[in-house]
Amino acid sequence: MLVRTAPLRALLAALIALLVLAAPAAAHERKLLLGTAVDVEALANDDRYRALLAREFDSVTAENVMKWYAVEPQRGVDEFEDADRLVRFARRHGQSVYGHTLVWHNQLPSWLTEGSFSKPELKRILRRHIFAVAGHFRGKVRAWDVVNEAIDDDGQWRDTIFYRAFGKRYVEMALRWARKADPHAKLFLNDYNIEGLNAKSDAYFALAKDLRRRGVPLDGIGIQGHLSLVYDFPGGVEENLRRFARLGLEPAFTEVDVRIPLPVSDDELAEQADWFGGLYDACRAVPPCKTFTVWGFTDRYSWVPSVFPGEGAATPFDEEYRPKPAWSAIHPPRSGT
Ligand code: XIL
Repeated sequence: MLVRTAPLRALLAALIALLVLAAPAAAHERKLLLGTAVDVEALANDDRYRALLAREFDSVTAENVMKWYAVEPQRGVDEFEDADRLVRFARRHGQSVYGHTLVWHNQLPSWLTEGSFSKPELKRILRRHIFAVAGHFRGKVRAWDVVNEAIDDDGQWRDTIFYRAFGKRYVEMALRWARKADPHAKLFLNDYNIEGLNAKSDAYFALAKDLRRRGVPLDGIGIQGHLSLVYDFPGGVEENLRRFARLGLEPAFTEVDVRIPLPVSDDELAEQADWFGGLYDACRAVPPCKTFTVWGFTDRYSWVPSVFPGEGAATPFDEEYRPKPAWSAIHPPRSGT
């Protein structure tokens, strides 16, 4: 088409400029799946909690009820009622489910921690557990944290019941069994203090690279994101996500909260919002990163005050479900206008 008149040409040029300028902005505005850990007690008993959860979140993670102590409290007795209730809630509200977690050294049933098992027996126990749980939720979870917190802060293997029995091979065993038990779930390793570049994320990078090279099924790296204003914001977050993405992995933020020393000030709430936004924007900037999950959405039920005395207010809504500045940082307007 020939554009004959000067005003029309100018208009066209302006339109093109607008498109060119808007394109990178639009890429940057990429929406993430917004997830949250769910406390099933609150889900059962608190209407306001349920309504906000249904309205605002795309993905749910069981805060506790898919952990080993909850799903097999007695040896050989599977208990999926609480977790099933959450899965049904998610299905009713069009939400996806992120499975947490198959293998972890915490919140194990006492029959397991207090028993003494030979290596072959422990192997059978671990295998049975993974097939029972991942098999039960087969087709219902988008992803699994297959192994949680396998490496300590120095980048060394964490000394756990599984590491002591099998060495680092237990991670590979768990991933292979999980793939068989639910071939469509994305398989993640998940840990804290691996947001930025440091010895621990280096160790995960080396581990992930080795697993990928050897064809062990691993699809993603779950970055918990438990931060505290007492420390510094982690350095090199986007670069860290990029290096995992280069291995063909999906990085995800899986448990974000930002603790504040109590009592909180407005300045601290603003800084907290910057920190939530910092992680959120890093995820948006690295396309394979698709989900941003907070570890509870309201201070009313957060795990923080009881585990980190003197700190709290770590989630995007306060105890009365009022949105804090952090909420705007991870919740860009839905219309895109
Ligand atoms: C926490 C829960 O929030 C608490 O309710 C529970 O008492 C202990 O575990 N990393 C994880 C999560 O992977 O499973 C933990 O959840 C928080 C740290």
